Amino acid sequence: MEKTLKKQGKEIAGVIMEPIELGHGILPKEGYMKAVRELTEKYNVLLIFDEVKTLFRVGLSGAQGYLKVTPDLFVCSKAMGGGLPISAYGGKKEVVELISQGKVPAMGTYNANPLSLAGAMANIEVLEKDGGKAYEHMYRIGEKLMKGIGKIFEELNVKAIVKGLPCQFVTCFTEMSADEINNYRDWSKAAGSAPEKGEKFRIELLQRGVFCSYPDWHLSTVHSDSDVEKTLKAVEDSLQM
Ligand SMILES: Cc1ncc(COP(=O)(O)O)c(C=O)c1O
Repeated sequence: MEKTLKKQGKEIAGVIMEPIELGHGILPKEGYMKAVRELTEKYNVLLIFDEVKTLFRVGLSGAQGYLKVTPDLFVCSKAMGGGLPISAYGGKKEVVELISQGKVPAMGTYNANPLSLAGAMANIEVLEKDGGKAYEHMYRIGEKLMKGIGKIFEELNVKAIVKGLPCQFVTCFTEMSADEINNYRDWSKAAGSAPEKGEKFRIELLQRGVFCSYPDWHLSTVHSDSDVEKTLKAVEDSLQM
């Protein structure tokens, strides 16, 4: 990136990236995103975060809060609506002002849709309550599930990994170790090695009442300790089929 920005920085309007690739359990290496922020500032290129998955799932301040890196612009969606369809953008005043001043158009049929906004407001109220207790609960439950699944893989001698954040993580049948999977290419290699095993696992779980969109496991603030116990039992039984 440094080489490209040095050579072509003046022709590049922005760098857009998913700061945490939740769908593959991939977090940036220590210091990577801070270096991207410094480089984009140095070459006067906008840093844009795709927080469609991460904002309100990772936490109230999304991946940018988690990584402590502020982009110039970001887009969010999914978990924001608590089930209702919504997307939003945000960013630094000098950037978003271009839209409010009408210099950059941002039109859409469902802009400011009252139902979606009411749903998002109600959702955010619940998430903000008691200093974010809902997140504390979801992370605790998610961690318990991740550790439990990892332990079952180990005990049954199943070559598979558990990787990601407790709010959303992945499992994958692979010979690779979790530490070897650091980007999309590594992930493709890992996931491509035994796709039929993953599909069988997903169906076995479904037959036991557990819906996992393999390889992803999405946590919700309403999942409970008994859901974890039921899920771990289903994981153990499914792997022995
Ligand atoms: C990280 C991320 N960005 C963008 C999108 C695209 O969103 P949409 O389907 O609303 O275009 C998705 C959808 O899955 C996503 O996960």
